[in-house]
Amino acid sequence: MRQLVRETTLAAEHLIAPIFVTEGTAREAVASMPGVERVPADAVAADAVALYRLGVRAVILFGIPNVKDAEGSGSFADDGVTQRAVRAIKAAVPELVVITDVCLCEYTDHGHCGVLGADGAPLNDATLPVLGRIAVSHARAGADIVAPSGMMDGMVGTIRAALDADGHTDVAILSYSVKYASAFYGPFRDAAATSLRTGDRRTHQMDPANAREAMREADLDVSEGADMLMVKPALVYLDIVHALRARHPALPLVAYQVSGEYAMLKAAAANGWLDERATVLETLLSIRRAGADAIITYFAGDVARWLHDGWP
Ligand code: PBG
Repeated sequence: MRQLVRETTLAAEHLIAPIFVTEGTAREAVASMPGVERVPADAVAADAVALYRLGVRAVILFGIPNVKDAEGSGSFADDGVTQRAVRAIKAAVPELVVITDVCLCEYTDHGHCGVLGADGAPLNDATLPVLGRIAVSHARAGADIVAPSGMMDGMVGTIRAALDADGHTDVAILSYSVKYASAFYGPFRDAAATSLRTGDRRTHQMDPANAREAMREADLDVSEGADMLMVKPALVYLDIVHALRARHPALPLVAYQVSGEYAMLKAAAANGWLDERATVLETLLSIRRAGADAIITYFAGDVARWLHDGWP
């Protein structure tokens, strides 16, 4: 009877699996994210096939190049790490939705999400054309959805225009509309080697104290042509997920359970302090209950496997 009257569901097709892709030859563990690996571009297709067989319908790729430079030029290279991974996955499992993270921070030696100005902070307008270039290169490789994560004003409009001009009218934009300047990204920065040498990201990422501003960020993205919106992190911003669900009822809403949220649960479970499966399910259900259609989570593969085995 509980199942009959249940209001919120969780299934593998609600999950988006993040994958860190490298130009290396061996898989590498990420110390602060037990169970997560950096995967060579040549090996990533096998992971994608395995996820698809478990019912996961989408992945989001984060490329980690061998060489980083001040301009982040690896980000839009035709044979760049992300572009290679997209091609490999699309060749192996064309039905799997491939989303790519569109940002400069994984490709710049300074780790910032944009072209730097004299004061060492990213320049919004100078960064926009580069984002357009990255998105087009991902679309040419076969990406279905591009996800700009750098919180630059005007990024969605610029990317839409660039994609359309190159003939990619069917490639969708999932905007990291509401991305907070969060301490919960720490483990990701280990994984992607994007820690900043100097400065911080508070010039463009959102102040955790602000909710009304989040609505404004999302409204701007919608007006520029965003196809889907994202809130990130998820668990400590469920009020924002809930408010955005109501404000843009027609748009799919994605929430990102980020690296720090994953690390917290993993660490407590490893100590025997929390029941991993039960707490993971509870967090994911709460994110869905708040209004997210889909959830980006490092638990995607595990949860899909657990569900496949008849859990809970
Ligand atoms: C930036 C980006 C970040 C994450 C996803 N895209 C990091 C940042 O803003 O520093 C974080 C994801 C996570 O913590 O899991 N391209």
